[in-house]
Amino acid sequence: MRRKLLGFVRPYILQPLSSKKGMILTTSEHFFLSFTDTLRYIFLHYKIGVEDKILVPAFYCPDTLRFLSQVATVVLYQINRDFSINKASYFEQVAKFRPRVIINYSFSGLSLTSEELVRCKALGADSTVIIEDCAHRIIIPEDLPELGPNHFYVTSIRKHSPLQGSHLIGNLPPADHLSTRFNWYKLRCYLLHLIQGGLSLAAYLGRSPWLYERSSDVFLHHDQLIGSFSRPTRGSRFSFELYKFINLRKVRQHQKEMAEMYNRQLKTIKSPLLKVLADEVVKAGEWIYYPLFVEPKIQVNLITYLEEKNIFADMLWETPTFQDAQIDHGFYQSFIILPVHWLIKKEDVILICQEIAFFLSSQNRLHDANKI
Ligand SMILES: Cc1ncc(COP(=O)(O)O)c(C=O)c1O
Repeated sequence: MRRKLLGFVRPYILQPLSSKKGMILTTSEHFFLSFTDTLRYIFLHYKIGVEDKILVPAFYCPDTLRFLSQVATVVLYQINRDFSINKASYFEQVAKFRPRVIINYSFSGLSLTSEELVRCKALGADSTVIIEDCAHRIIIPEDLPELGPNHFYVTSIRKHSPLQGSHLIGNLPPADHLSTRFNWYKLRCYLLHLIQGGLSLAAYLGRSPWLYERSSDVFLHHDQLIGSFSRPTRGSRFSFELYKFINLRKVRQHQKEMAEMYNRQLKTIKSPLLKVLADEVVKAGEWIYYPLFVEPKIQVNLITYLEEKNIFADMLWETPTFQDAQIDHGFYQSFIILPVHWLIKKEDVILICQEIAFFLSSQNRLHDANKI
């Protein structure tokens, strides 16, 4: 029997469902095809142009960074090596540039406290638009804070569910004329998404790495396409309605537990080639993937080794092409990600950690042999 496939696959039929139909984050008028479509909509609404400054984290999704640098003037704030927002740099930049738009984001899912938000608003202009990038978070309606004027939460549900779409949460009057409901771009996105979902489900059930690779190829095509249309495009009503049935609380809790488990297991491996975050950091965060710091010189070999065992690890992002001294290239290349989603169980985490330990001991033996 071939080994179970442990990757980033999220088939819809294998998600925890909720009978409680209460997961309503926003109206269908504020449900877009992708995070970038939602940003386009907000920017159109506020008439953001290239001369407007937009404050963005220096550790950020390269595609989104590229998009932002085309539509506005990007300035950056620093991110600490534990993924938290560097508050000193953040407030300094807000005071210095008084940006028109600020994007709050941290891979660990933590944003500003309400006091810090007040401070940010006091330093910036009254009209500053604050966008909480929740692409890597699972937002649950009951947990949502009161949002003031010009303050928004934006999701990207394809990152944690098999559906695609993005909720715009906040007080913005719906403006139908600013978005489009249907076009060729939307149709292509849905077709690619459907093919990718089918391939990954077949890969998972058939335990086929070959099919998994094919689904990854389609995913990359889809990734290139999504957000590329110039007019904000609405998401489908179908995804909007189906999303309400996923038990988001259960998925979020599961991801958190798996991340904590990786940390506990990997901490016991003593190797100079490996580093994990402090337990408190992992415990406090919300993780869509588990980040494992691995020396760049062994990353490719480790990923290849795991792949041979049907375990699909990856890099989170390539280094951005965006030129700025604040971009910390080394940080982008310092870690790999491991899956934590609903189909990954405790015994899978143990197995993945064992394989990583085997790999590292073989590297140590190699190292010792080379010294002789
Ligand atoms: C942190 C972050 N924000 C935004 C986005 C863009 O999301 P979408 O692909 O839905 O446009 C991504 C994409 O990977 C991301 O990682």
